[in-house]
Amino acid sequence: MSYRASYSMVTHAEGGVTDAQLAALEARAFGAYDGVIASDSRFIPWYRARPGMDPGGCQAALLTDGTLVASVFLTSISLVVGREALLAAAIDTVMTHPDHRGRGLASALMERTHQAARSRGADLMVLYTAAGSDPQRLYERLGYRVCATLAYWVGAVPHPSPVQPVSPTGAEALAAQPDGFRVYTDADRAWHRAGPAPRRWFVDPACDGGRPLSVCYATAPVRLAGSVRPVSVTCDATAFTDGPELRRLLLRAPGPDVLWLLDEADGPRSRLLASAGLRVVAREVEMILPLTGAARQALARSAGPWYPISESIIGV
Ligand SMILES: CC(C)(COP(=O)(O)OP(=O)(O)OC[C@H]1O[C@@H](n2cnc3c(N)ncnc32)[C@H](O)[C@@H]1OP(=O)(O)O)[C@@H](O)C(=O)NCCC(=O)NCCS
Repeated sequence: MSYRASYSMVTHAEGGVTDAQLAALEARAFGAYDGVIASDSRFIPWYRARPGMDPGGCQAALLTDGTLVASVFLTSISLVVGREALLAAAIDTVMTHPDHRGRGLASALMERTHQAARSRGADLMVLYTAAGSDPQRLYERLGYRVCATLAYWVGAVPHPSPVQPVSPTGAEALAAQPDGFRVYTDADRAWHRAGPAPRRWFVDPACDGGRPLSVCYATAPVRLAGSVRPVSVTCDATAFTDGPELRRLLLRAPGPDVLWLLDEADGPRSRLLASAGLRVVAREVEMILPLTGAARQALARSAGPWYPISESIIGV
């Protein structure tokens, strides 16, 4: 297309893309997007320091004067599928400036991330987007398929309380690995804790019939139904139980509202959230593009429900 001559497509590393450029583009592209964290000047630098974030794989479209008009983030992660940890390339923050949409920029940058992921030996691509949205159709055209629909459950916390940090070793011991679970490293946990304050909160591990459990909350300003409000987002939830202990931990979130992203196929926990007064306010789909035979076999074995990676969905 003749448009293409006006843009150069480079990696973030090649283009020397700055935090300020990304923050400005994100504000234009995601201004009205429901369910994302309301960004501030500290967010982009922190997010770009995410372990596995790959400046040589992240893609940008620049005008000849160097203006950034489209971008895609690429992060290498270890993702559990079909009981196996695979090397995944997570794509997020796909964005094109409104004046430059519909010219194939996002599609071209996505194709470039796929090539980068292949060259790094990735088994699959993974991303999240709003269910039924234009971006979902765009990703389907690029070969992605929905592996899970995730509901945003939101509700008021009846008795918000300051919560206690879980020790890193405690959190590690609690790790469970359903499909979609990101295998966290110490570097990941350190990065989570360094997020722009006040974000990171942890509930002490409790015990459910001898099985340890915890819920991790990040209190962040999230855009929901058109307005931004502080929400305790459940993330890195290691509480894979539908027992009363989970309900108790949920109701002790820092508040005032709590948000839990949950696979719709997870009936027991959906009922638990409904019984705690939470309601579904939006839906996201998790989409996968397998790149290798190992990924296709793992997907064939996958039983779900899928675990949502909250930092890839709303940035906490
Ligand atoms: C989604 C987004 C990145 C697409 O960027 P883009 O550079 O316009 O993407 P492409 O040109 O490759 O494809 C756009 C598709 O959107 C549609 N489209 C066409 N013109 C459009 C326009 N002016 N505005 C929005 N969408 C348009 C078309 O369906 C097109 O597909 P097709 O022409 O291949 O059939 C961009 O709309 C955006 O920044 N949206 C807001 C942020 C967002 O929702 N990101 C995705 C989060 S996962």
